[in-house]
Amino acid sequence: MYRVKLADLVPGMVVAREVTAPDGRLLLNVGAVIKARFIPKLEYLGVREVWVEGDPFLPPPLPQPPAVRRVRGPEEVFQDAVQAISEVFTDLRCGRALELPRVRRTAEAIVKQVLAQQHVLSCLGQIRDYDDYTFAHSVQVCLFAIALGRSLGYGFDDLVELGTGALLHDVGKTQIPLSLLNKPGYYNEKEYRAVKHHAAYGERILRRTEGVGVNIIRMAAEHHEWYNGAGYFRGLRGLEIHEFGRIGAIVDVYDAMTTDRSYRHRLLPHLAVEYLVGLAGSHFDPGLTRLFVQTVAIFPLDATVELTTGEIGRIIDVQKDLPTRPVVLILYDEKGRPVFRRRVRDLRRETTVFVTRLLSCGVVGRWAS
Ligand SMILES: [Fe+2]
Repeated sequence: MYRVKLADLVPGMVVAREVTAPDGRLLLNVGAVIKARFIPKLEYLGVREVWVEGDPFLPPPLPQPPAVRRVRGPEEVFQDAVQAISEVFTDLRCGRALELPRVRRTAEAIVKQVLAQQHVLSCLGQIRDYDDYTFAHSVQVCLFAIALGRSLGYGFDDLVELGTGALLHDVGKTQIPLSLLNKPGYYNEKEYRAVKHHAAYGERILRRTEGVGVNIIRMAAEHHEWYNGAGYFRGLRGLEIHEFGRIGAIVDVYDAMTTDRSYRHRLLPHLAVEYLVGLAGSHFDPGLTRLFVQTVAIFPLDATVELTTGEIGRIIDVQKDLPTRPVVLILYDEKGRPVFRRRVRDLRRETTVFVTRLLSCGVVGRWAS
């Protein structure tokens, strides 16, 4: 402990004796760390010297650099989004009002994140580890919808509107008993009928909420309509279905298929894409489906995959026009032995070889599209 004149006081020093003003008022407690802004105040209040911790013969601590505001990464943004949606939906379930500004802020954060990524989306597998399917699903549907909206040329405000609609597309599920919603396995006919009501419930909740635009209401109401008119709950067809509803239908089914559920494993992205393409024109808007397939990264660059040959390799190239047929650099042979000589399988040419498993998603944010 030693005494320093105010002129020699530097930020970072630790107060060793209480600092008081000449009138006896306590200004700083023992243990307080001196900050730059304290020094002129202490001078103004008439303090001439301060007892500080340490050795007078050692150099004083270096001033602390100003705190740098850390940029939030995609995972944090998505985790916050899942948290926000879980709270908004839980409030609704408890009979409270829909907190629309919070949902909109969440959509804005996701839009900014998607726009910052050159290749559309980061690895979605990394945000799938949530217990409650509905909330993570809503955020993932939002990501895919925004990606598709970007491909359609939407501006920032329209993307936020679309993202808000996507986050709320299943808001009607807050009116379905949790025991039914979280039931493991498939629904029987009666249960399925009850769950299907969520589209109409969603429309009703959103109509009652001030500030919700018609696009968002229609996304919740129409994301289960089929392009051929066989969907629910109004049986709209073709362009009678709002564009947000037609986008919602594609991204909702795609995300559901590529997510693990308690009763089934997820499909590989390229199989899910084949399923979507097979239903383009009947279930889905064909033009939007085509655009979605080009938008969504089926196989991210650097992903590790297993092939039907038993080999394991890393994806080093994917052509936009053949997104399900990547070029794979083989790392391990069919017996699991490391491969040291460069061996590449170009699945565009080797048409009998397929990807059987996606083992890791590679570098986050670096998707081929
Ligand atoms: Fe739904």
